Amino acid sequence: MDESFVALTFVDGALVLLDQRILPTTVAYVHCHTYEEVEFAIRDMVVRGAPAIGAAAAYGVYLALTQSSDEQTFFKALDFLANARPTAVNLAWAIERMRGVYEQHKKLAKEAQLAALLTEADEIRNEDIRTNKEMSQIGSRVVPQGATILTHCNTGALATAGWGTALGVIKQAHYEGKQIFVYADETRPRLQGARLTAWELVEAKIPSKLIADSTAATLIRDGKIDLVILGGDRVAANGDVANKLGTFALSVICKAYGVPFYSVVPVSTIDFSIPDGSHIPIEERDKSEVTHIGQTQVAPSEIDVYNPAFDVTPHQNITGIITERGIIYPPFGENIERLRNGETL
Ligand code: MRU
Repeated sequence: MDESFVALTFVDGALVLLDQRILPTTVAYVHCHTYEEVEFAIRDMVVRGAPAIGAAAAYGVYLALTQSSDEQTFFKALDFLANARPTAVNLAWAIERMRGVYEQHKKLAKEAQLAALLTEADEIRNEDIRTNKEMSQIGSRVVPQGATILTHCNTGALATAGWGTALGVIKQAHYEGKQIFVYADETRPRLQGARLTAWELVEAKIPSKLIADSTAATLIRDGKIDLVILGGDRVAANGDVANKLGTFALSVICKAYGVPFYSVVPVSTIDFSIPDGSHIPIEERDKSEVTHIGQTQVAPSEIDVYNPAFDVTPHQNITGIITERGIIYPPFGENIERLRNGETL
């Protein structure tokens, strides 16, 4: 039931990343020995997915301390890492958690500081795996026997430190024998659905079909989808969810046809400091992601391109947000506040 591949490990002083830019046709690893290499790997999407980039950045912070001779240089490195990608809050969350551990240990010898940071990075990674498994148990309860599920982007072991968020719920339901069937959106332009989710579905032997993104509307209208389950990169205090481009459109169609729509996120993806989704910075990526498919150019090079990597789904379109501390249902603002106060839902 556990995967034979992991997105990230830390071995012999290097962060080792499964290169997600070239999966599934090539399985290769990138070794990051410096925080600059970690920053590049996050920015260039060698590693991607909100929880995975948080865990990768945590090791980046450790590497930054090994490279820094003074605090100013170290803090500059943390800011550099935090700016690698703007939308997923897990990146800043993990870096701030690592900064806190540094602050607690900064009066100690450098060796002790480094040991504390490495332990914390390991803990962020291990905690993510535990959290994903908890969310999967909780989330599987909303999956009916025999359900046909539609998912978007990649939210599995590859997007996290292990197991997955939305795809974790889907795997859990499958292993519980619920006889589910999954439609996976290809997820243009980076094709995380086609390249990564399809790979994970095949590995897990889950009955499934890959579809072009535009097929989803017809399947939902025709009553072929029982529920949509996907991830999230940042949840605002009112329950608005930023997730992979295309999520918002799916939510509108689901609302129009009364299909349940769930986002699965660890509590670390909730940004309690922002009141609503309009405050979430949306990353814009290079035009080549749209003008090219892989290395093949499909559009004239002169054309201008608008390429946001994420969109924001208003909480009014969401049935529930599945976390490791329970499912957040409306009123989202009130229930997110309860989570903030340490309650379990
Ligand atoms: O651009 P990506 O591939 O990093 O985007 C990933 C997503 O949008 C996922 O849905 C999200 O991070 C949740 S993954 C557990």
